[in-house]
Amino acid sequence: MKSFVIGLIVGLLILPLAFAAYVASGRMPAATSDPPIPFEAVLAGAALHARIKREAPKRDVSGVATAELVSGADVYQKDCAVCHGLPGQPVPPVAKGEFPPPPQLFTVDGRVSDDPAGVTYWKVKNGIRLTGMPGFQASLEDQQLWQVTALVARADKLPPEVLDALKPAPPVILITAGAANPAASSAPGQVKPKQ
Ligand code: HEC
Repeated sequence: MKSFVIGLIVGLLILPLAFAAYVASGRMPAATSDPPIPFEAVLAGAALHARIKREAPKRDVSGVATAELVSGADVYQKDCAVCHGLPGQPVPPVAKGEFPPPPQLFTVDGRVSDDPAGVTYWKVKNGIRLTGMPGFQASLEDQQLWQVTALVARADKLPPEVLDALKPAPPVILITAGAANPAASSAPGQVKPKQ
């Protein structure tokens, strides 16, 4: 009995101590470019799936109006493109430095058009813990959450107006006050003499 108790105590201590030693050794993956921690993907994935299965709403977004999708594209440009990219554009710099990497939602490999819309809505609303995917519950209206959800859910068949709204913003052209309004120009030599 005594040896059993000693065995139990040692057993209970060894695992946490070994884990602490592993963390303290500096070998545990901590940088985004490191490989996954053993079982990280399995644990994170299993927890996420169980939670989403319980909570994701069911809604069909196949009939969402084009205007709604255009609004979704506006949200996407502001809040998502920096990580998830735009159609036909190179992978953005932020995406290249994240672990896990954000899927490029307008590419064949990255799009979520096969996922139920409710699952995507859940992810956009709540975010995905231990990844760079933020939850937008606090910053977007529920209507906007659905608009951007419908957009990415239909990434493989978007009408041209929506694709237009997903073009990269044109470079900002600085117009000097003088050029915009020549009448207000006060270039040297042209200043009217005081009368
Ligand atoms: C700071 C970067 C970042 C921003 C901004 C961001 N995401 Fe994400 N997102 C991620 C990452 C990283 C993942 C991958 C998470 C994972 O591997 O589980 C992800 C995952 C997702 C997924 C799940 C993809 C899949 O294959 O299951 C969806 C859908 C998604 N994001 C939509 C959005 C939308 C819509 C927005 C804007 C409202 C957005 N994200 C903004 C980083 C970002």
